Amino acid sequence: MFILNTWYIAAWGSEIADKPLGRRICNEPIVFFRDQSTGKVAALEDKCCHRAAPLSMGVVVEAGLQCGYHGVVHDCSGRCVHIPGQEKIPARAKVRAYPVVEKNEFVWVWMGAPELADESRIVDYPYNDDHANWPHHKGFYHIKANYMLMVDNLMDLTHLGYVHGSTIGGNPQTHVQALMDVKKTDDSLSYVRWMLNSIPPPTYLAAVPFKGRVDRWQEFDFAPPSNVLQWSGAVDAGTGAREHGNRTGGFSLRIFHGLTPETESTCFYFYAPANGYRQDDPVATKELMEHISHAFLEDKLICEGQQQRIDELGEKGLIDIVSDVTRVQLRRIIQRMGDRERLQGEAAPAARPAVPEASAAAS
Ligand SMILES: [Fe+2]
Repeated sequence: MFILNTWYIAAWGSEIADKPLGRRICNEPIVFFRDQSTGKVAALEDKCCHRAAPLSMGVVVEAGLQCGYHGVVHDCSGRCVHIPGQEKIPARAKVRAYPVVEKNEFVWVWMGAPELADESRIVDYPYNDDHANWPHHKGFYHIKANYMLMVDNLMDLTHLGYVHGSTIGGNPQTHVQALMDVKKTDDSLSYVRWMLNSIPPPTYLAAVPFKGRVDRWQEFDFAPPSNVLQWSGAVDAGTGAREHGNRTGGFSLRIFHGLTPETESTCFYFYAPANGYRQDDPVATKELMEHISHAFLEDKLICEGQQQRIDELGEKGLIDIVSDVTRVQLRRIIQRMGDRERLQGEAAPAARPAVPEASAAAS
């Protein structure tokens, strides 16, 4: 069961150039392409209205997306606008179009009722557009695990000392003993963790020549149901980072974590580690990307292992431990979103037509 009335990251904007991109989201096959005249991204059901060939196998033409089988063309709204050898185009010759918005380098798609698609609900992440202060590379992994396992992973950092010992982790006990300040409401969850007077982990040391111990922070903000905003860093221990807010002169990175469900047991992971310490040094940005990508590969493997066991043996009998406080809370938020959506759907069963009217497309 997916939450549909929400915005998901479908792609990096740079992934959609002159060729169509096929991507399954919430188990629905979608094709993304960039309109030749406006440059805007469109998202259509990935199935030609003629003989069901995947439109992602076609080519982008001036009028829209041309099917690779018999040349039928659909425009950005999903309407069929050209049939080779035929002048009259039937009114029902159309495919579903999804609301889509390009913002902060991401392409966001709305999977639910088109009339509910509110662009203002898309998470703001201006750092992706600020290349001078937050230079970054674009990361992407296909994960063979439900997206919620990856969100769990991000919102419970006690795994760092065990999974990421050689990169962003460090001493496991330091993580377990971190000072946690959690803020939560029915719809939001964020936390700040402090590891005062701790040994900097390998990734931090590779970036900044710390003299000794550091005061290290991790701020995580959950943007339900599937995105997490992170700001982490460290400065020399005892320089007032926590007491006086002095967080300059050390290590600092921001990461947007976007998890998008592909199927019930697979997801896409979009991430962008931004260098906030040596902004004028492209090598530092590249090395940060390599360290973080390596660390996230470790998360990927753990979560894929979890999914395998869940598929084989189910979740019955699993226990919660003290570090699950935030994880349990985020699952409640997602559960509430799903419950609300189902109640809305029951109250208004016609809210999500199978084939919306053509004008619901790209903006
Ligand atoms: Fe991790």
